Amino acid sequence: MKAIVYEEYGSPDVLELRDVEKPTPKDDEVLVKVYAVSANAADLHLLRADPFLIRLSSGLLKPKNKILGSDIAGRVEAIGRNIKQFKPGDEVFGDISAGGWGGFAEYVCAREDALVLKPANLSFEEAAAVPMAAVTALQGLRTKGQIQPGQKVLINGASGGVGMFAVQIAKAFGAEVTAVCSTRNLNIVRSMGADHVIDYTREDFTQNGKRYDLILAANGDRSISDYRRVLTPRGTYVMTGGAMAQLSEVMLKGPWISMTSSQKMGNLLAKPNQQDLAFMKELLEAGKVVPTIDRRFPLSEFAKAFRYLEEGHAQGKVVIIVHQAVPNKSLHLPAAIPVPFIAASEPGR
Ligand SMILES: NC(=O)c1ccc[n+]([C@@H]2O[C@H](COP(=O)([O-])OP(=O)(O)OC[C@H]3O[C@@H](n4cnc5c(N)ncnc54)[C@H](OP(=O)(O)O)[C@@H]3O)[C@@H](O)[C@H]2O)c1
Repeated sequence: MKAIVYEEYGSPDVLELRDVEKPTPKDDEVLVKVYAVSANAADLHLLRADPFLIRLSSGLLKPKNKILGSDIAGRVEAIGRNIKQFKPGDEVFGDISAGGWGGFAEYVCAREDALVLKPANLSFEEAAAVPMAAVTALQGLRTKGQIQPGQKVLINGASGGVGMFAVQIAKAFGAEVTAVCSTRNLNIVRSMGADHVIDYTREDFTQNGKRYDLILAANGDRSISDYRRVLTPRGTYVMTGGAMAQLSEVMLKGPWISMTSSQKMGNLLAKPNQQDLAFMKELLEAGKVVPTIDRRFPLSEFAKAFRYLEEGHAQGKVVIIVHQAVPNKSLHLPAAIPVPFIAASEPGR
């Protein structure tokens, strides 16, 4: 099968599209034929071993897992003998990062607790855009942020992969949502349901006198004191993403502020969670949350996908198409999208 492999840490240039052995599922694994896989900032961190300490878990000198890719959507091709939740032919999606990654490939073996049946109303591409970003937003708002209906919630970095899900999830919980993004993203973020939008290139949300019960920092580079200033006296601040300086500050000062005041401030390292993904499936099927795909790339143009994501200005998610789910003539891809890679192993082609 084809897979995007990396043997050493570095830029997207170290990635190679290669033939590798098709995996065989162990007793507790599901073999998934991958139709689409989305790229996440986590793939970039692992690719570059940045921050350096990531090497303690991903391999000191060389990457342990040679194939990146966590967020897959595909069809179950075979199952191990202990698999209870899925059968061959099921359409699934999930975040396989806790089980060894490997999504940038035509086939991958996954633990069944990493997978959920694909929402019936979503294409494989749309489903692949969901897992890590949406579950991060959900865990930030619900698990750590304890979001309540009627709360005033601010999402910074609202136009990225995590941010767009955060805006919609907060609305689904009945919050009044303020989204912070740049000028070109104002309309798209409004269309996600944001009640108020702030253009960070023109207005400083920490200086306009407004206060929020819950702030989710999905991206950006504001200091903890900036966020504290716009938090209500009993408010909660959750950082899921942003600049490294911001993360270090939150890790150092957040616990102290949370202990010594009525405000709660801290960061979240999201974990794949089957129940959380199943909850997202419900929101997606109810139409309360809709994934936004900025760009789609064929597997053969994986390096372009990584470089684009690395620029840090994606509007929603970047998705790589591995197998075509429908004949080309019925697939309505925007004109700018490259002709998809047709997998050599696709039967009947
Ligand atoms: N904690 C966790 O477990 C976890 C999980 C997933 C991701 N993350 C982290 O979360 C961060 C965001 O992930 P993502 O997938 O959403 O990334 P992404 O899709 O690459 O984010 C890109 C978006 O961020 C916006 N942005 C960039 N600079 C900004 C700024 N200064 N202020 C406000 N918005 C800004 C961009 O909007 P403009 O073009 O308008 O600037 C763009 O829409 C990353 O740092 C990632 O590592 C953490």
